[in-house]
Order: sequence, then structure tokens, then C-alpha cells
Amino acid sequence: MKYPIRLDKFLAHHTGLSRSQLRKALREQPVQVNGDVVKDQGMHIHREDKVVWMGDEFGEAGFSYIMMNKPAGYVSTDDASEHPSAIYLIDEPFVERLHCAGRLDLDSTGMLLITDDGSWSHRITSPKHQKAKVYEVTLADPVTEDHLDQLRKGILLRNEETETLPCEATLLDEQHVRLTIYEGRYHQVKRMFAALGNKVEALHRAQIGDIILDEDLEPGEWRYLTDEEVAVFSGNT
Ligand code: URA
Repeated sequence: MKYPIRLDKFLAHHTGLSRSQLRKALREQPVQVNGDVVKDQGMHIHREDKVVWMGDEFGEAGFSYIMMNKPAGYVSTDDASEHPSAIYLIDEPFVERLHCAGRLDLDSTGMLLITDDGSWSHRITSPKHQKAKVYEVTLADPVTEDHLDQLRKGILLRNEETETLPCEATLLDEQHVRLTIYEGRYHQVKRMFAALGNKVEALHRAQIGDIILDEDLEPGEWRYLTDEEVAVFSGNT
């Protein structure tokens, strides 16, 4: 959310009410900012301001936390790119403030976590925190038990000096693997299978940490995270 922001825009964003519904409701139920009743709906508020309205506190909770089922053909950055950014599939007033907590390749699908809270996303992406990322991988060629063992133990990727961290790999059928990794090297999953002489045909992220992709989300759809989901990466996790 971009601060300072008009109070009526802030409340419209958090409640889903239209400006006219909001004006009417505000006449009946006055809003408080930092304990003072405010009549001027156009007042500008800052991130640290505490807004209380109809018993709800909207204070510093000005951040947005979103889960998306990324479709193929979208990038997860907002850099100038020849491909559209998944972030702009989000119909949110402050979309330009958002970034993805972790990348997915153009052709990869599945869970993207998107926020404007830099500390929160840092806890997901920082190598120090080693959050689990679960992928469903479709391979061009059959995968053997020996391949799975190599993946699990750690594998040396091309142009790298250290092996990948131990991970979990389960064969779903001979060309499908569920892979849980605890780091996020560049094109890591594709390069892990390339090191075994196989090729990733499709890559879908199903989970990050304890947050599981909502199966009701069709490709391109998104929803706000619940408070419980946000809490997974809050504080000292
Ligand atoms: N590993 C990859 O190779 N690609 C992704 O999009 C994510 C992980």
C-alpha cells in the first residue's frame, strides 16, 4: 500500500465498499485515527497510523498478502520484460507496490506469494531461513530410484561449486516426481534434473513452507492470505 494514502481509499480497500457506500456508512459510524474521531474522509494517513472503524482495527496492517496460482506465460518479476507480469493479474489498488516472494519461471505454474511487506518476503526467500518449496515435476524421460537417491543426497549443478542441499523426492509415477527443496538457486529444479540427463517438461509449485496452494484457485486467480497463513512467515519463523 502506498503511504500516505487518503483515508476513504484506505477504508475502501480494506472493506470492499464503494466510495458512495463508504460515505454513507461513515456518516453513521465515525472512524477514528489514532484515537481521534475524524470527519475529513480525504485526510491522508501514514503506515503507522491506527485506524479503527466499526470495531475493526486496520492499523499498521496496511500490508497485502496474496496467493496466486500463476499461469504459464507470465513472469514473476515486474521488470521491463517482453512477457506480462503475474502481479498485474491482481486487481488491487496498490498493485505497483507488490512484489513476488520468490520466483517462478515463465513456463512454471502454481503458487506465487505476493506482498508489499519486504520483511515478510525476506523470511521466505532468504537462504538463511531455508523454507521448503514443494514442486510437482513432469519429466520427459522415466525417473529411476537411483536418480531419486542422487536428488535426495544433493547433486552438483553445472557451473556450481557446492552440491544442492539434501531434499525430499517421491516418485508419483515414472515421469512425475514430487520434489521438496530448501533453497532457491537459479532454475534449480530444471538444473537438478538436467544434471541427471532428464528434462523438465512441466513444473508446478504446490506449497511454500506450510502454505498450500488453494485448489479452488484456477490458473491466474488469486486470493488474500488468511491471518493464519500470513503468520506462517511472521516473526522468528
Ligand atoms: N526451479 C526451476 O527450475 N524453475 C522454477 O520456476 C522454480 C524452481
